[in-house]
Amino acid sequence: METSNQLLAGKVAIVTGGGDGIGKGIALMFARSGAHVVIADRAASAAEEAAAEVSRLGRRSLAINMDVRRPEMVKEMVRRTVAELGGLDILVNNVGGSPRQAFLDSSESRWLKIVELNLNSVFFCTGAAVRAMIEGQRRGSIINISSIEGSRAAPGFAVYSACKGGLDNFTKTAAVEFAQHGIRVNCIAPDVIDTAVTADLRGNPNLDRVIPLGRIGTPEEVGGVAVFLASDLASYVTGVTILVDGGTFAACGWQREGSGWVNVPRPDK
Ligand SMILES: NC(=O)c1ccc[n+]([C@@H]2O[C@H](COP(=O)([O-])OP(=O)(O)OC[C@H]3O[C@@H](n4cnc5c(N)ncnc54)[C@H](O)[C@@H]3O)[C@@H](O)[C@H]2O)c1
Repeated sequence: METSNQLLAGKVAIVTGGGDGIGKGIALMFARSGAHVVIADRAASAAEEAAAEVSRLGRRSLAINMDVRRPEMVKEMVRRTVAELGGLDILVNNVGGSPRQAFLDSSESRWLKIVELNLNSVFFCTGAAVRAMIEGQRRGSIINISSIEGSRAAPGFAVYSACKGGLDNFTKTAAVEFAQHGIRVNCIAPDVIDTAVTADLRGNPNLDRVIPLGRIGTPEEVGGVAVFLASDLASYVTGVTILVDGGTFAACGWQREGSGWVNVPRPDK
């Protein structure tokens, strides 16, 4: 997505999982909007490549090879950001996800592993980032990447949906607790976005039936909303979740049929 604005001029952002997918889309949209960006990712080469793209856009960048589930790595990520880029203004808690499995087939250890990735990581990253923002007297912005599955039933994704619903509500509590420090906390809830995780849906002719805008979204389209939330344009916005879903949640079961819409497909007459 072509854009060149200065909405985030001079701000320093960390994007977890910024090496690929939605995180990379956010990182590049931040850089196009003037921010310096830290790419924190478990995949070292992906982090290096994304950081190089940020540099080519004329911003400072840092690739940090780390795992959001490891609190000591998270603290080091924030320490290096402040030491090397001069402070921290924006954190995007983007890492998350879960393979599909029916609830009755899943084990306790699997449940705990998915909670560790989707929620424990948010505890570690938010805690370290907010402490640095307060210490540096930065009026920061935290953006959590949730999912449409946090607000609706998600068969095969019970623990993921519980985590994302939890993240939506954590956003509200954190927004209220950190307001006294001038730190805003918001959430983005995408539906299907074109990343490695959703590659099997690319070009599926049925997308048009269930997604009112008729296509899956791009990582940059999530990035555009993140730029808005991180910028002063959203200076009075905190504690909200914005759906980025092509209208799917609003449709809530209505499907395109011919030139109209149905909520229960009828047998052909
Ligand atoms: N893709 C979608 O359709 C979609 C829809 C709704 C919500 N989401 C959410 O968006 C976020 C990003 O999803 P995505 O599809 O871009 O994922 P992705 O798998 O395409 O990219 C994730 C990135 O995170 C990195 N990563 C994974 N585990 C990590 C860890 N423990 N520590 C550090 N880095 C790690 C990976 O190396 C990769 O670069 C997730 O929270 C996901 O739940 C995605």
